[in-house]
Amino acid sequence: MPYYTKLGLLPRKRHVQFRRPDGALYSEEVFGTEGFVGPTTTLYHIHPPTQVYGWKPMYSTAVEYVEQDIMRMRHLKSAPMSPKGDFVTGRVVLFGNADCQMAVCNPAEQMPYHFKNAQGDECLFIHFGSGVCHTMLGTLRFGPKDYLVIPKGVIYTVIWDRRENDPATGKPRDGGPPVEQCPFGKVLLIETCNGSHIGPPPRYVSKTTSQFLEHAPYCERDLTLPEMPLTWDERGDFEVRIKARDLIHSYMYHYHPLDVVGWDGCYYPFIFNVDDFSPITGKLHMPPPIHQTFEAHNFVICSFCPRMLDYHPQSIKVPYNHSNLDSDEVLYYVEGNFGSRKGIEVGSLTLHPQGIPHGPHPGTIEASLAATHTAELAVMCDTFRPLFPTRAALAIDDEKYPASWQGEHFPGLASGAMHLNGVTIPPSSAAAFPREVHPVPVIKAEPAQVVIPAPGANGKNGSTPKATGTSTANVWAP
Ligand SMILES: [Fe+2]
Repeated sequence: MPYYTKLGLLPRKRHVQFRRPDGALYSEEVFGTEGFVGPTTTLYHIHPPTQVYGWKPMYSTAVEYVEQDIMRMRHLKSAPMSPKGDFVTGRVVLFGNADCQMAVCNPAEQMPYHFKNAQGDECLFIHFGSGVCHTMLGTLRFGPKDYLVIPKGVIYTVIWDRRENDPATGKPRDGGPPVEQCPFGKVLLIETCNGSHIGPPPRYVSKTTSQFLEHAPYCERDLTLPEMPLTWDERGDFEVRIKARDLIHSYMYHYHPLDVVGWDGCYYPFIFNVDDFSPITGKLHMPPPIHQTFEAHNFVICSFCPRMLDYHPQSIKVPYNHSNLDSDEVLYYVEGNFGSRKGIEVGSLTLHPQGIPHGPHPGTIEASLAATHTAELAVMCDTFRPLFPTRAALAIDDEKYPASWQGEHFPGLASGAMHLNGVTIPPSSAAAFPREVHPVPVIKAEPAQVVIPAPGANGKNGSTPKATGTSTANVWAP
């Protein structure tokens, strides 16, 4: 994170004698990034952090990508994936490249060890479930819709709360999937592979003070930093599994690995709950960067949150067709009504690659014209280099998805129920813009002499979504 904080006990100055109650020195460790010129934290251990033994290779985490030469839209349905492993071993990588990996995790059991990812930062979006994450820099209690960001090198463990049914309804209290199918929680993981670190976009923070600026959609008050308890002073054999070089190593410590009594600096884990993201809205459609939440080198993470939609009386509420020429886009659908996108459900992931435009599904433009807000929530990861799927991804791939844009895009026009430059203006918006309730002047060009029907434009190859007639819109056209 860009700003300084501290927790626990600290000596008056760096690198001076700092003694335990028994008179021995605490062991200072400088946790430095980018060759000690990047964000750094200084920790004070009860025991020397170097006293580890028993390095044992356990299993490879190398990811095999498939279909690397094929560019096409993809839609994965992750909701039915069975619980597996723990918070670490249960991760199933679906997409990735040399910069990042995206995985989902539906753990079947608690993790009985501590873990350190020594090769990348982890951004863990908690879709369902809650628990506590004990780290060497303090404790973070997490819950649904939290981004839990754990930077490279931080030792941690996670203790899940077990999900429960409400006795009155027999269904999960959190409204999520059946507890038998998801006993602890569901996580979307985005992990760096290129040595960069995940943090807020630099444009959100002051260059001189590192303070979040007024235009940022969140600020310091929205972040949860590590808290007490911080220190475990226990002797014994404690396993710390370290991920490095695409291999999980088992190291043993003679003492509890979370033995830090105090630390200060700018390198630490934190939580940001997506409900605290204050969406930036506009009179006309705003581009995806307004949703940006975090970034690392060569990829960004965005939050598409419930928000007011564009308020120009004749605005198009769904995104325009677009070619994101330098990015592959992955959206993870968290909650809301995705009925306007064919086959999309909670837990779906879509991949829209650079190389082919994408946009609204048939019928969604007209269906959303009167909408004033959307209640949908999704997490997006845009990468600046192509993403490749894994075999696990192909196993849950909806092969019909690339054809889902076929069909009648303007059913209202086709039926005569709607007209170009129509006045389907929500009354509240019309009152706010009394001078703008007139049709937008059309700049006329020479009409085309020949119109070639698009394949499937007769509606036979695709369904015709109904107009919602509500004040909410399904706006996903990622
Ligand atoms: Fe997009």
